[in-house]
Amino acid sequence: MATSKDYRLGDFTFPRGWFMVADGAELNTHKPLAVRFFGKDFALYRGRESGKVVLLDAYCPHMKTHLAAPNTTSYVVIDGGGSNVEGDGIRCPYHGWRFGADGKCDDIPYHQGPIPAAAAVKSWPVVESMGAVWVWHDPEGGEPEWNHPSLPQWDDPSWVHWKFDHLGMLQQHPQEVIDNIADVAHLSPIHGSTVQRYENIFDGHTATQRQCGPHRTLVAADGVSTILHTDTTYHGPGVLISYLTGYLESILMITHTPVEDGSIKVWHALMVKSAGNNAQATVPDVVAARQFQESSRLAFMQDFEVWTNKAPCLQGLFLPSDGPFMKTRIWYKQFYNPRANKHEYLDQCEGTYVPRGAVAYSEAR
Ligand code: FES
Ligand SMILES: [Fe+2]
Repeated sequence: MATSKDYRLGDFTFPRGWFMVADGAELNTHKPLAVRFFGKDFALYRGRESGKVVLLDAYCPHMKTHLAAPNTTSYVVIDGGGSNVEGDGIRCPYHGWRFGADGKCDDIPYHQGPIPAAAAVKSWPVVESMGAVWVWHDPEGGEPEWNHPSLPQWDDPSWVHWKFDHLGMLQQHPQEVIDNIADVAHLSPIHGSTVQRYENIFDGHTATQRQCGPHRTLVAADGVSTILHTDTTYHGPGVLISYLTGYLESILMITHTPVEDGSIKVWHALMVKSAGNNAQATVPDVVAARQFQESSRLAFMQDFEVWTNKAPCLQGLFLPSDGPFMKTRIWYKQFYNPRANKHEYLDQCEGTYVPRGAVAYSEAR
């Protein structure tokens, strides 16, 4: 398992950006969820009062009990009907200290007098959007640099919402996944795509790939193969959103979040527009959407299978007819270095790139 240092990414171990930490549906039981990201443990839960999702550092400052690890025997949990979430706060199962959504201890059942200010855990900025819970992670502790992931199509009833595929852990540094945005030469051997036009664009916190061609894995339910167009953008280091047209109009999202330095948790999802252009997606639209999401998942698993077993590519043997891997790696470094220095990296990578021998996507159609 290679680390951020091994890839010479910069000052930070984990990058700056919005990252998915849970499927919102996992939090519908009021039971807290123990999650681990960025080499740290967290307690994640949905407040019973506001319904808002809360992410706290996991360990109680009193004696370091995990606030959200599964517990079935503490009377704090038993008396809470199987959960230690209380209002919008959470009560430690060991001695009953309660922490509010802001992370501050607001009740110690056996203690009179003021609660020490140090009786607090860090509360992380989270938002729920498009069925997922997102955290803004910034090693410098700054405010979000760009907006959290959202799409207008999510609120349009002619689109069928996705259901997340939980792909689990990948024991690779995220750099190996990020490289894929520039990887024109894998499209034919892995996905069975014949690339007709292709380009990459790096612009600020976004990295885009546009390409089109027939595709052997991602086919419509009737098996008819037409030209698939994909317009795919990383919005920061952890969220990839791709517009697919040619078969069913759809939007793919792949998210990955560092767990340790050199491993990630991965999710996949696909939203599909009603094929009959119904104002409200119908039951057959939902069936078609689920089938298309499955084809899309299988296409992604073609990448995933290779990543599962490959060695870290710390130094590739890249050719001019490969995509712009080195530009991608420079673009990615902005998130591992102080925000004030991001232009050092952007100055070296921003622009549009077409691999040698390829036709630019934006050339006349
Ligand atoms: S360890 Fe949490 S209340 Fe004592
Ligand atoms: Fe791929």
